[in-house]
Amino acid sequence: MIKLQSLRKVFKSDLLTQPFVALDDVSFDVPEGSMVGFLGANGAGKTTSLKIIMDFIRPTSGAVIFSSKLGSSKLEIFKNIGFLPERPYFYPTLTGHDFLLFMGRLSEMTTTSINHEIQVWAPRFKIDHALKRELKTYSKGMLQRIGFLATILHHPKIVILDEPLSGLDPIGRKELKDVIIEVHKEGKTVFFSSHIVPDVEEICDRVVFLKDGKLAFDGSVGSLITDSLAFDYVVSVKADFSFNPQTPFKSVTILPNNLKKYIVESGNKDRFLVEMIERKYIILSIEMNKPTLEEIFYQTRGTV
Ligand SMILES: Nc1ncnc2c1ncn2[C@@H]1O[C@H](COP(=O)(O)OP(=O)(O)OP(=O)(O)O)[C@@H](O)[C@H]1O
Ligand SMILES: [Mg+2]
Repeated sequence: MIKLQSLRKVFKSDLLTQPFVALDDVSFDVPEGSMVGFLGANGAGKTTSLKIIMDFIRPTSGAVIFSSKLGSSKLEIFKNIGFLPERPYFYPTLTGHDFLLFMGRLSEMTTTSINHEIQVWAPRFKIDHALKRELKTYSKGMLQRIGFLATILHHPKIVILDEPLSGLDPIGRKELKDVIIEVHKEGKTVFFSSHIVPDVEEICDRVVFLKDGKLAFDGSVGSLITDSLAFDYVVSVKADFSFNPQTPFKSVTILPNNLKKYIVESGNKDRFLVEMIERKYIILSIEMNKPTLEEIFYQTRGTV
């Protein structure tokens, strides 16, 4: 749906300061119908990439290619994108309803169709009860939800959200994740940035991971987990207390009833199992010790 091709962005503030390379040869795709999480630490270049996609700033080199399904002219393409910025400004004295009317009219919607969309979506965004109130009385979570609702009023084909979950408590995050999932289920492509790795792991099918302005990973959440680290295995055996395997293992936990849980590196797993079988110990279970996306994220930060 959107393809970034070798994007490079160099910020030059003045003659005395060194130019800063915020994006360096970044290429990735947001496929149609996908839910893509855009991960990276503070300053990795996520907002810069999103601003380039939205044409708020220009890349130093490289290009953003939009699918013809979004339209052929710039005007048409941007009408098909809903964007929630990192720090949206909300007019404090507008009511929620007036804010949505204002945003809908910016997209050239009629009052009737805006009201229809509000009726459909406000209850799903759990904001219907507050639409008559001024925005200055809204909590952060409510502002995030109404801001997100404003991005989908005009039926965009793709929604791009810059840190929609930041600053929310676990309940606020859960509520917003639920509406992101709903919007995705409606058939919209969703691309959102976050540093909250478990949230991305929970709801996204793809991950793009920036590190210091460079692409560190682009692919499925599953393959980030399987490709990143050699797995350990957890082998549970029933073995007498004095048993000590010859095959190297990382650690052992001794449980009641002669149960032992060994952590074995993948390279030693087969040898370890053969040893168990030869000694006629009972293997109760073998499990992959999968790292979480969060563990990979922190490991990759040091290496990519
Ligand atoms: N206009 C600018 N002039 C100079 N440097 C800039 C400018 N805009 C961004 N940068 C720098 O580019 C880098 C990337 O910034 P960006 O806002 O894209 O990061 P981010 O991944 O969105 O971080 P965060 O998670 O904190 O929002 C940062 O080091 C930032 O200071
Ligand atoms: Mg940012």
